[in-house]
Amino acid sequence: LGLVAGAASAQTYPQRPITMIVPFAAGGPTDVIARIVGDHMSRTLGQQVVIENVAGAGGTTGITRAAGAAPDGYTIMMGHMGTHGAAPALYPNLKYDPANSFDTIGMAAGTPIVIVAKKDYPAGDLKAFLAHLKANDTKTNMAHAGVGSVSHSTGVLFTSVVGIKPTMVAYRGTGPALNDLMSGQVDFMTDQIVNVAPQITGGTIRAYAIATPQRSPALPDVPTTKEAGLEGYEVSAWNAVFGPKGLPADVRAKLVDALNKALSDENTRKRLLDLGGVIPEGAERGPEALQKLVESEVARWTPVLKAAGAVAN
Ligand code: MLT
Repeated sequence: LGLVAGAASAQTYPQRPITMIVPFAAGGPTDVIARIVGDHMSRTLGQQVVIENVAGAGGTTGITRAAGAAPDGYTIMMGHMGTHGAAPALYPNLKYDPANSFDTIGMAAGTPIVIVAKKDYPAGDLKAFLAHLKANDTKTNMAHAGVGSVSHSTGVLFTSVVGIKPTMVAYRGTGPALNDLMSGQVDFMTDQIVNVAPQITGGTIRAYAIATPQRSPALPDVPTTKEAGLEGYEVSAWNAVFGPKGLPADVRAKLVDALNKALSDENTRKRLLDLGGVIPEGAERGPEALQKLVESEVARWTPVLKAAGAVAN
């Protein structure tokens, strides 16, 4: 009887709206990507994907909540390189294991990291920026979205590569952090391109470099870190959809299919590409690829953060 009930629920899944937990404040990169892919997933699934922002502790609060949700397909989450890569190194008592507490659905978008500052920062290019940072070390404020977030972990890496110790200012997401950067309340941050691209193009903040081997088509005038004279700082993040562990196979398959269709939809692709997002193709998509990515990212970030002296929270 259980099998029949299970099959029945999968055949009619979803019967009601699906909650996608975003573990940061509304308006930040994770939220923007969740709303873009969630919008198209709703169409395929025939039920609304409702975004719920659950911020705090660098994203680990929301992911912990999602990990404990019923594995019925009605609660999923948007995690990323911070929550499912950097967090274990920074939270000794983390309440979930990125590689074992979830059923992967698939990667949503890669997000190159951009070094951005308030628009009147007194440095004309990256070299001058780095010199000014070194001369004004602790007097400079670096924004981030909480210990273990992408902006925090890529920021820690940046400070260790450059050899500075700025004052680090935590926000509930880089959406709110960006507001303070635009008003000059905070000096700089290393953030995901999908959050900062519109403000860079609009001239309300300035970008010194993008930390990728090639420039982004969305920001053709922003030099790579290598071009701008900074060796050893190339880093990209990624955002991905997960469910709690134990989803019925048919339910998981429907979610994987809906994400895949979103990433193949022209309008959805345009919205992500216009913001500088990198869309996974072919073998990079789907649950198996994401599982491998999580395992490799946890292995990669743990020694990087330990070497950078990032103390546990
Ligand atoms: C981060 O990890 O920095 C987050 O992605 C920021 C956010 O989405 O608000």
